[in-house]
Amino acid sequence: MKTRKLTSDANGLAAASAILAKGGLVAMPTETVYGLAADARQGEAVASIYAAKGRPSFNPLIVHVVSADEAQRYVVWNDAAASLAAAFWPGPLTLVLPLREGHGLSSLVTAGLETLAVRCPAHPVAQALLQAFNGPVAAPSANLSGKISPTRAAHVLDGMEGRVDAVLDGGAAEIGLESTIIGLAAAPTLLRHGSITRAQIEAALGETLQEATTPAAVTAQVTAPGQLSSHYAPDASVRLDVTDALPDEALLGFGNVPCTLNLSPAGDLREAAANLFDMLRQLDARADKIAVSPVPETGIGIAINDRLKRAAADRP
Ligand code: TXA
Ligand code: MG
Repeated sequence: MKTRKLTSDANGLAAASAILAKGGLVAMPTETVYGLAADARQGEAVASIYAAKGRPSFNPLIVHVVSADEAQRYVVWNDAAASLAAAFWPGPLTLVLPLREGHGLSSLVTAGLETLAVRCPAHPVAQALLQAFNGPVAAPSANLSGKISPTRAAHVLDGMEGRVDAVLDGGAAEIGLESTIIGLAAAPTLLRHGSITRAQIEAALGETLQEATTPAAVTAQVTAPGQLSSHYAPDASVRLDVTDALPDEALLGFGNVPCTLNLSPAGDLREAAANLFDMLRQLDARADKIAVSPVPETGIGIAINDRLKRAAADRP
């Protein structure tokens, strides 16, 4: 793949928006760090993010929206969210809220969680791209997994050249540090420190924030960034690397195999990643035992297998 270098004028924005619409990847500037953007509704596009980053596991991603109004199409809003959005959006603040019914997002965005992280970025180029694209954009930092977050288009190209469709140049990121994340699905909790401080958030909320590390906060919010304990674990038992499913097992297939549901009949790992959380959920609703076909341990298959191993092991 040849990575296009786009300037942030009308032509560049139109090209970037067209790439997103076709399910491609665009590195976009934000005021915090450059994000690796994909249409949050297209599962295969979101899967491409993980593939491009070489990320060994699926972490829930932040969905970027053009306004607080648009955020409310995807999450259940509350008073705390309204206060914080009024005070800090657009800006370097991410809010975690319950997913709204009919949200239309790929389940790969939330890694199967019932909550969604949303952020309305302030960078004029990010705003212009979101306007032009007119849809929700999933975007983790645009670096290879384990590498430093990029704050310039050149940093993005260092790691991602040839792995993304385009880089939209918006100059140096002003903040250079990922957004502050506040969990609002339960008692307000500081999930990730950022340039907006605890004191600023507490002043806007008129209430004290919990730390993600207190047991009450962890059980309430379920997640601490970087050490997610709450990826979706099915109620059903999960058995991996199964070629012959038992009569009482529902088989989650991969490739050309007879099965209950198929991650990708063609054996396409990106398609499989896009289907993974949805299909696990569907099978969990209809079976007590889930068996899973072998998935090749290459490329994004590593992330799929990582997630499958957790699903097979995790029993809260
Ligand atoms: O500044 C930023 O936030 C940058 C720019 C590109 O916007 N984006 C970013 O995304 O840092 P990412 O994917 O690298 O960080 C996502 C963080 C992770 O720490 C993850 O744990 C947390 O957001 N997160 C996402 N969804 C969550 C959820 N439902 N519950 C709790 N934490 C969540
Ligand atoms: Mg990151």
